[in-house]
Amino acid sequence: MTTTRMRKMKADGVPISMITAYDYPSAKLAEEAGVDVILVGDSLGNVVLGYESTLPVTLEDMIYHTKAVTRAVRNPLVVTDMPFMTYHGTIDQTLNQVGRVMREGLGQSVKMEGGTEIARTVEAIVKAGVPVMGHIGLTPQSVYQIGGYRVQGKTSAQAQKLLDDALSLEQAGAFAVVLELVTDELSELITSRLSIPTIGIGAGRHCDGQVLVYHDVLQYASESVPKKFVKAYANLGDHIREGISQYVKEVKSKAFPAEEHSFHSDLELASVYGKTEEDHD
Ligand code: KIV
Repeated sequence: MTTTRMRKMKADGVPISMITAYDYPSAKLAEEAGVDVILVGDSLGNVVLGYESTLPVTLEDMIYHTKAVTRAVRNPLVVTDMPFMTYHGTIDQTLNQVGRVMREGLGQSVKMEGGTEIARTVEAIVKAGVPVMGHIGLTPQSVYQIGGYRVQGKTSAQAQKLLDDALSLEQAGAFAVVLELVTDELSELITSRLSIPTIGIGAGRHCDGQVLVYHDVLQYASESVPKKFVKAYANLGDHIREGISQYVKEVKSKAFPAEEHSFHSDLELASVYGKTEEDHD
């Protein structure tokens, strides 16, 4: 998958599938399932590291997880989230941080939250040769400023600002834009006004592609309160819990390991026990 191919998919009306993954097995399974784009999202702060928000995630965390993901996949495009406050310094500082994701994490592209206010930064990164995906609407890194995880674009001022944000990201050279928690009507309008693809999460049915968090799709120890925009396609959490609890039971009851899990040899152990310490030396 390439950024050019994604643009063509939009032009041809072919939906783009994107999912997050954070390590070797999750990325490998996502590729085997035919996903187009893998996002090493800073949502790993919540679903992998157990933080309450994405804010504590560091550049080192993102590099570490990107390395594992890029080792696993060949075909999907890999996008790495730039974490909180790693792209708000000078352009040189930002290029240095993006460079680390690309060199050390073997990243292929980066994603950043924000619109018009980061357009100059996006432009500089794209000019340096790194593809950038934008992310507007509900931007979790600004959750304290936004005042909670709520749907965006409901007032005309908000809607106008989000449209301007999307257009300025496209102008700055972004290859796609994530729309998170945006009304169906607004995401339809933005999608129709851009020539780059929009990827929705909680943004209705009119985006060019969709993204969800791996742990939500598979119900893999994700939040117990389901989010309205998530559809769960499997229940890994229950399978894993059942599997481990059966293992624990069998260890306690000594049903495991059984004869078929054991190794044998013809060695006469009495002769080993019979050895003196000097023999061992
Ligand atoms: O970090 C993440 O998983 C994301 C998606 C929610 C788009 O940014």
